[in-house]
Parts: sequence; C-alpha cells; structure tokens
Amino acid sequence: MKKLLGVIVLAGLSVAGYLMFTGPRMRVQPSIREWQMAMPPSPAGAVPLAQVVPTVPTAKQAAALRQPLPASAENIAIGRTYYEYYCLACHGAAGDGHGPVGESYFPTPSDLRTQKIKSMPEGVLLRAMLSGQGHEPVLPRVVPEKAWWYLVLYMKSL
Ligand code: HEC
Repeated sequence: MKKLLGVIVLAGLSVAGYLMFTGPRMRVQPSIREWQMAMPPSPAGAVPLAQVVPTVPTAKQAAALRQPLPASAENIAIGRTYYEYYCLACHGAAGDGHGPVGESYFPTPSDLRTQKIKSMPEGVLLRAMLSGQGHEPVLPRVVPEKAWWYLVLYMKSL
C-alpha cells in the first residue's frame, strides 16, 4: 500500500514537473506573439518622424542667424514660460545653473546670466542651447521649434 502511494506521488510529481517545463503557460502569451509579428504598414497619410524633427543649424548657419522677435516685455514673458518648462530643472529658476536636477550634474549647468551669454551672437546661443555640450541629443526634439527664439530672448534678458 505504502509502495503504491509512493509510486502515485512520484508519477504525479513527474507529470507536474513535465508540465511546468514544457507546458503551454509561457509560450502562448499573446504579448510575445504580437511582438514577434512583422510591423503592420503605416496608415495612409502618416508623416515619418524624420520630417517632424527640426534640424539644428550648423555652426556656420548659426553664425548668420538673427533674432526675428522684438525684445518686448511680452515676448520675454513667453520665453520665461518656455524656460520654466524646459530649462529650469537644470539651469535653475534664476538661470544660475543650480536647478534641482542640475545639482546632480558635473560640471553643473552653465550660469545663463553671464557676460558670455550676453555677448554671444544670437544664432550661436540658439545652437548652444539646442546641441551644446551638456545637453542630451533629444533636446531639439523636446523643445518645440516655435519656442527657440523666445528662449534666446529670455536668456539674453537675464
Ligand atoms: C538636463 C539638464 C539640462 C537641461 C534640461 C538644459 N540644460 Fe543647458 N546645459 C546643461 C549643462 C550640463 C550644460 C553645460 C555646462 C558646462 O559644460 O559647463 C548646459 C549648457 C547650456 C548652454 C551653454 C552655455 C555656455 O556657456 O556655452 C546654454 C546656452 C544652455 N545650456 C541653455 C539651455 C536652455 C535654454 C535650456 C532649455 C531649453 C537648457 N539649457 C536645458 C544642462 C541642461
């Protein structure tokens, strides 16, 4: 009797073990199947991302660029709003480079109130803002193009 029980338990465990390792559980996950499928074609009229990402001016182009916006109080206020959205975390509320995220950087983000920034040609500043050292390559895609010149205006006003 004891022997029979032992055989039954052993057989049960073997079947359970077999099912655990070969069973269908992990294999038929729809998520894995979907992931393995070929991508469906894009819907008609879809615009490739490459056309949406604005191109950062080259150093040569940047040198020739001029600020198209008048330095009105209104435009500077718009620039400030954009700054608070996209830059404050690193460059700080005062533009001194000591934002809450910026503190974790070494070197800390640039102080934007300096004479260096004031005397930088506008286009060069625009380029430094978008693709300068210390910035992630994703920045030109994150900051909308319509905000670019407002941000330059705001930096110059600090
Ligand atoms: C993730 C953090 C981070 C964000 C967000 C960020 N910056 Fe920076 N920024 C830096 C760091 C770091 C540097 C380089 C400091 C260094 O090299 O000494 C830098 C450098 C710069 C410079 C170059 C200054 C110089 O002296 O050449 C400008 C201009 C600038 N940032 C403007 C901006 C503006 C405007 C925004 C918002 C659109 C922005 N940054 C967003 C971290 C950041």
